[in-house]
Amino acid sequence: MKYLYPFLNPVEWIKAIKFQRKSSKFDKSAYDLELFLYSKILTNNMLHYGYFEDISVKPETISLKQLEDAQIRYGENIVEQIRDIHNPVLDVGCGLGGLAELMHNKNLDVEVLTPNKNQIDFINKNYPYLKSHNYKFEHFESGRKYGTIINSESLQYIPLSEAFKQAEKILLPDGKWIISDYFRLNDKGINKSSHLLEDFRQKLKEFNWRVIYERDITMNILPTLILINMYAERFLMPLKHFGYEKLRFKKPWLYYMTNRLRDSIDNKIIKEAAAINPSRFIDEKRYMFFVLEKT
Ligand SMILES: C[S@@+](CC[C@H](N)C(=O)[O-])C[C@H]1O[C@@H](n2cnc3c(N)ncnc32)[C@H](O)[C@@H]1O
Repeated sequence: MKYLYPFLNPVEWIKAIKFQRKSSKFDKSAYDLELFLYSKILTNNMLHYGYFEDISVKPETISLKQLEDAQIRYGENIVEQIRDIHNPVLDVGCGLGGLAELMHNKNLDVEVLTPNKNQIDFINKNYPYLKSHNYKFEHFESGRKYGTIINSESLQYIPLSEAFKQAEKILLPDGKWIISDYFRLNDKGINKSSHLLEDFRQKLKEFNWRVIYERDITMNILPTLILINMYAERFLMPLKHFGYEKLRFKKPWLYYMTNRLRDSIDNKIIKEAAAINPSRFIDEKRYMFFVLEKT
């Protein structure tokens, strides 16, 4: 009966509605649950897929250390493209600051920007020497101009036209814009969490940017996806099944009453699983590395 109490009590219903209203105002860019989850699993404060030199590595053999090393390699690829070492670098969508720290250790003058207040607090506490900006890129009012702007797996969160306008505004005349992110090849997939590559190329022309370096690194990030997918299939899904079945045996009536809830959880899982399915990723997306300059 104690499980049914909240459903039968009108006061609890009013509280639930208020909670729903408050929660729906949540700005996803200000508090990202998935990023929080990954940040607990990996400890080098990098929130991207990493870069594997050996693309034939088997997922069962990848240790957390190897995954973290791949993330550092990915960061180093970005740092290697920074030619202007005298002017400041802006790390847009800096996550937990791991990449900025890598650049700081190479004596670059780095500033970080993220709309996520928790990430800013984390960076201010752990890397107090990094100047931080708690803004969305598209709303950032900068007092200075940068020699390099970096979007490491963060362009996908920013409306493209606004990103192009903002980059032009805050970049020095010979400045470079480094973008490493995945793009969708078409509109068919169920997971729409990135820009269409075609739209991106169109914006390059529209806003007069030249590509001075381009590389498709899809195969180098794929081992991470294969690894996450393997954990999902071999641990998370069996655990979910175990939980559901346990409920069915122990409390069949509650199992019955929560049918729709379980359906909606399953639908959400199908959508999330599509984003980490390696063969779907290859069919639908490309992970690209670009260095751009304004013409
Ligand atoms: C996948 S993480 C990448 C973190 C980091 N760049 C790295 O490579 O480790 C995406 C980042 O983009 C940030 N972000 C989301 N929306 C943004 C926006 N509109 N402007 C700037 N950053 C944004 C998130 O808060 C997060 O820090």
